[in-house]
Amino acid sequence: MARSRLWSQYGVCVLVLVLLHACKKNQEPTEDAPVVTTVKAPNLPDSLFAYSALKFPDSWLNDSALQLFGASGANIEISDAGATLGRVLFYDPMLSADGMVSCSSCHLQAHGFGDNTARSIGLTGEPSRRNTMPLANLRYQRRLFWDARTVGLENQVLEPIEHPDEMGMVLSDLPDQLSGLPYYRTLFQAAFGDSVISTDRIATALGQFIRCIRVHSSRYDEGLETDFANFSDSEVQGRELFFNGVTRCNQCHSGLNFFSTQAFINGLEVDYAAAGDAGIGELTGYAEDDGRFRTVSLRNIGMTAPYMHDGRFETLRDVVDFYSDSIAWHPYLDERLTVTGVDGDGQEPYRLALSSSEREALVDFLLTLNDTVIQDAWWLGDPF
Ligand code: HEC
Ligand code: HEC
Repeated sequence: MARSRLWSQYGVCVLVLVLLHACKKNQEPTEDAPVVTTVKAPNLPDSLFAYSALKFPDSWLNDSALQLFGASGANIEISDAGATLGRVLFYDPMLSADGMVSCSSCHLQAHGFGDNTARSIGLTGEPSRRNTMPLANLRYQRRLFWDARTVGLENQVLEPIEHPDEMGMVLSDLPDQLSGLPYYRTLFQAAFGDSVISTDRIATALGQFIRCIRVHSSRYDEGLETDFANFSDSEVQGRELFFNGVTRCNQCHSGLNFFSTQAFINGLEVDYAAAGDAGIGELTGYAEDDGRFRTVSLRNIGMTAPYMHDGRFETLRDVVDFYSDSIAWHPYLDERLTVTGVDGDGQEPYRLALSSSEREALVDFLLTLNDTVIQDAWWLGDPF
């Protein structure tokens, strides 16, 4: 790929001295000896990619439900230089305490910016507590994480940087650490008008980049335009099952983004707290929140295995088998997954008991939600 004159003056590799401070969280005190690390400069195109020109389709922008959810992100301006800086930050392991972990260590482009392992490994080498969430269409998501604990993407993005098990960085040290790298001055200058590096600016740029991960080009979207002439018989059947009201899938995973901004209890456990993760229940302490988790989007779902907050299901077929056969009794199981349904009385889990071909059809339909653009988009890929 072509490199601009600004970048080439640094050469492909630069050596920098990184002083690892002795006071990092959860780290054994170390000698204050300089650690020499080889750092690559990012390989960026001569002219910036037009991130600012990316647009959701009119059908999304005019959708009344999405408009409601999109209100929080609609006014955030994305500039080409801001998102370019965000892309570099997203892939740069120098944002971590040991120079080894980047956002992309866990959020992999090939897997819809999720991870293909149940629990990701961060700085400490210990598996993360929950399954890495895929990143897509976050303009429509105000409350983040599986338990919706953080409001606003710009507030969220710094959390993994300082999380001791993820990137383990002391945030106040981050601007200095980045100042030591030759490529950031120019990038910050281009994005913000001067080369000052601050955590706020880092958050803004990461937020801009992540907002450019937009998933709305799938075979399903093509089908919406062509009355599903592009679908196989099995995909047609799967779509009917998904939307027909019997499976109730679309009553929670709804609309063009196949999600809900609300969190529900979908019956993975009888007692989630006892099983080790009560989700929102851990934050509120209420029994009716035990096991309440975000109703994540099913866009790109074929790329983001394994599934659920703990990555317990390896395949989509496992997920469909779960909804069909083994939803657990739970005192606050969502009504949509009970026999009596919404406004009914009782918590008896709904057993769909789908036939084998219906299960296959549902899986085939879910696979049509895979995006055909972002997986290969170089402008969302690793610049290093
Ligand atoms: C060690 C693996 C790891 C690293 C590194 C990591 N993440 Fe994550 N990310 C996760 C996990 C796990 C979750 C879900 C955590 C939870 O819900 O408690 C998550 C959740 C998120 C979410 C929430 C998505 C949603 O729909 O709510 C965003 C956004 C995100 N990460 C962005 C980032 C950014 C930006 C970076 C780099 C600065 C980063 N992550 C680094 C593992 C990681
Ligand atoms: C009551 C609302 C509700 C209904 C109905 C529902 N889901 Fe879910 N779904 C959820 C919630 C909540 C989660 C996340 C649960 C967790 O991780 O603990 C989820 C998770 C999933 C996941 C895993 C997503 C991921 O990224 O890991 C898939 C796939 C899925 N559902 C498909 C379906 C299908 C197919 C149906 C219909 C058979 C369905 N859902 C019905 C609420 C629902």
